[in-house]
Amino acid sequence: MLRVGIIGVRGYTGEQLLDLLLRHSRVKINYLTARVDKPVKISELFPQFKNRLDLVCDNFNLSRALESADLFFLALPHTASMDIAPLLRKGGKKVIDLSADYRLKDYKLYEAWYKAKHKDRKNLKKAVYGLPEIHKVDIREADFIANPGCYSTLAILSLAPLVQVRLAKLGSIIIDAKSGYSGAGRKSTDDPFWGEIKDNFNAYKVDNHQHTPEIEQELSKLAKKKIKVTFVPHLLPIERGILETIYVRVTGYACLPARQGLRVTEQKLIEQYKRFYKDEPFVRIKGEGEFPSLRDVQYTNFCDIGIKVSQDKKLLIIISAIDNLVKGASGQAVQNMNLMCGFRESEGLPRRNCGATSEEKEVSNGAYYE
Ligand SMILES: NC(=O)c1ccc[n+]([C@@H]2O[C@H](COP(=O)([O-])OP(=O)(O)OC[C@H]3O[C@@H](n4cnc5c(N)ncnc54)[C@H](OP(=O)(O)O)[C@@H]3O)[C@@H](O)[C@H]2O)c1
Repeated sequence: MLRVGIIGVRGYTGEQLLDLLLRHSRVKINYLTARVDKPVKISELFPQFKNRLDLVCDNFNLSRALESADLFFLALPHTASMDIAPLLRKGGKKVIDLSADYRLKDYKLYEAWYKAKHKDRKNLKKAVYGLPEIHKVDIREADFIANPGCYSTLAILSLAPLVQVRLAKLGSIIIDAKSGYSGAGRKSTDDPFWGEIKDNFNAYKVDNHQHTPEIEQELSKLAKKKIKVTFVPHLLPIERGILETIYVRVTGYACLPARQGLRVTEQKLIEQYKRFYKDEPFVRIKGEGEFPSLRDVQYTNFCDIGIKVSQDKKLLIIISAIDNLVKGASGQAVQNMNLMCGFRESEGLPRRNCGATSEEKEVSNGAYYE
């Protein structure tokens, strides 16, 4: 059994991680931290874990951490992760960081977008960007993972197959994203901001969100040329899920009637996406005229993608959805752990709806797990 620890278990992603890891057959949860006045049983923080895990949660203590677990999930805000990650790495532990501290390879970009000095440039160089569908080979070899942002996960998965076929004008990408409020962390429901979320819908950080450089970094690597995107996030008055509607202009070449054989059609693009993701257990490409819905991905590790080609407007419209706390954070972190540790990639990950077989167990909340 792999002994794992969660640093920052009291937040949204920490709680989700705990729930997923408790269903995982190859791990033992052996260390939990939160900022507490005195040690407290995890079931006192979260009554839903009563009779499922008998473990005490305490403030972070390095020597106790090092003796208790071999792999750590850091479910902390950015800047807090880079205080702890180097200590665990120095102690020879595997680390999966859910924060943004190790995602941007250019530390100057990190410092500009996150308004904080990068204190661990040595590990920044070594951390592997943990998007399994794109970086699987590197993740299998890695000891340190920078788990991607939720919006970035969805945008990159939605655009990766397109960037490689060169049918799209890569300078024209517009990402219109909508997220449930859990994307902003538990604090968002505890402060007066919650009053602004309820029964409301609004854009925020318009063309100025910190996931923009992360999306650009990964798409540029895939395209082997610099790509800029326009990214506009919105806040939905629901707890979880992200839906993105992405607009991309098609190259004139791909639309010319004279080039019938090369002309981009929905059918061809869908085939292209299916080929690109043919070995990926968590990406589902919709058929012609079908588009994702948050309900189909909530509480699962799936990413659903639908495609529309508007020939007369020379426009591609890609609509995609994930659960921000599962594929957008904790589920993806478990997927990364599975790859790093040689477990089955889908071990312990929710597969509600499509993919559930009679062998898979139905659990209390109605989701199916492997
Ligand atoms: N929410 C999402 O959908 C999502 C998706 C992808 C990535 N992420 C990233 O994952 C990380 C965690 O997100 P979250 O949504 O779980 O946030 P959260 O609900 O706000 O929880 C973060 C936890 O970190 C702890 N914490 C805060 N400052 C700390 C410090 N200086 N030292 C130690 N612990 C500290 C807090 O612990 P106490 O409660 O004990 O004070 C809090 O419970 C963030 O970096 C976030 O950007 C989140």
